[in-house]
Amino acid sequence: MSESVVTMEKIVNLCKRRGFVFQSSEIYGGLGSCYDYGPLGVELKRNVKEAWWRDTVTTRPDIVGLDCSILMHPRVWEASGHLANFTDPMVDCKSCKGRFRADHLDQLRCPKQPSKKPGECSEGELTEPRSFNLMFKTFMGPVEDSAAVVYMRPETAQGIFVNFVNVVNSARMKPPFGIAQMGKSFRNEITPGNFLFRTREFEQMELEFFVPPGTDDAWFHYWSARRLQWYKSYGIREERLRLRSHASDELAHYAKGCGDVEYEFPIGWQELEGIANRTDFDLKQHIEYSGKDLSFFDDQTKERFVPYVIEPSAGADRATLAFLVDSYDEDGPDNDRRAVLRLHPSLAPIKVAILPLMKRDGMDAKAQEIVEMLRPHFAVTYDQAGSIGRRYRRQDEIGTPLGVTVDYDTLKDGTVTLRDRDTMSQDRVKIDDLYEIVRKKVAPPVMPGGLAPVA
Ligand code: GAP
Repeated sequence: MSESVVTMEKIVNLCKRRGFVFQSSEIYGGLGSCYDYGPLGVELKRNVKEAWWRDTVTTRPDIVGLDCSILMHPRVWEASGHLANFTDPMVDCKSCKGRFRADHLDQLRCPKQPSKKPGECSEGELTEPRSFNLMFKTFMGPVEDSAAVVYMRPETAQGIFVNFVNVVNSARMKPPFGIAQMGKSFRNEITPGNFLFRTREFEQMELEFFVPPGTDDAWFHYWSARRLQWYKSYGIREERLRLRSHASDELAHYAKGCGDVEYEFPIGWQELEGIANRTDFDLKQHIEYSGKDLSFFDDQTKERFVPYVIEPSAGADRATLAFLVDSYDEDGPDNDRRAVLRLHPSLAPIKVAILPLMKRDGMDAKAQEIVEMLRPHFAVTYDQAGSIGRRYRRQDEIGTPLGVTVDYDTLKDGTVTLRDRDTMSQDRVKIDDLYEIVRKKVAPPVMPGGLAPVA
């Protein structure tokens, strides 16, 4: 596999050309840092989320799911600290009027003179930093006054905390246990950018794992290792992944410990996912602000406690971008170069392409029969346009792991050519065996490791 052929520009172009991701409202000039997933992108992102849900919820006895509303009672954001603290420092340039995140100046460019950093061009002068709250505001009901203000959630986590007792009572869960949620979050980022990496509307995949106090450190290490392993299991190259512990001055106000799973994007090492030991901060805040008892009573030990929370918090869009970037490869001689997405087959938007060698003599009809046979089980596509080589290339570029070619021999003996995206090997297999072959190929990985920290 070749190194460093990938650039953000290649990914953005591929995403647009092949229908993974489009700029939002493009025909009106686009809306800053908002993106739409096209036919292939929506499948890829659904598969990423499904992989997360599968490994976080459906294969575990100790975690249940939740799907909360995006709009919540405004008191939630007072209790969580978001109204007071969810701010970034912002500076303005008095010359170009550009607005920048004061703590990201090193990574940003002056809009007038892109070779310089903000404020470093000849007339540039930055204001003193001031706090800018990242929450989007809107109004509930017909009257737009301060009593009607509600916020678009900036994280999914708070919906989980405020439902803690509902879940404990209805699902009879007992710490250590987790509640997981995937869904949209909104942040009015001062300087979004780098394609899907930092946007104003994005999806999170968050787990709040509630544990008895005193066991939190062990669970924090467990979840840090487990989440790193998840990305590896789905094919992200080990050398482009790392865990980075936060220094004490980086910690969020609620966190006792925090680590990031980082990925080496073409723009450098960046956070993919944060794993935090949120202590009992959130539940205690909601106890205070709501006046409700959110503690847990353990029937066996007869102890009452407010659980500590370990939170692995991932971005679905950021993970999708990482899978795209990491799987992108080019190979072959200069005069016959191919671009290929070496996506884990379980993540690939399309699993099998069915290709008649020629669209005549019954090969097309036979290929359609195979499509109908596989379609109820897998995402398949049919392509009869152009040379077989070009059709393979089209599938390689979107990450389709298997190609099935129907030729004259198929009509005689019921076999097809099965082509592998990565090795480009071609094997003769029976049509009757195809279902089983594809099923095995696209099966999700089995994550190594157990369900709890090793004692
Ligand atoms: N509940 C904790 C929390 O929200 P965070 O580190 O602010 O923590 C978690 O966000 C993850 O959400 C990030 O690691 C990233 O993957 C994703 N994320 C955050 N802001 C984002 C943005 N503006 N655009 C895309 N993804 C974002």
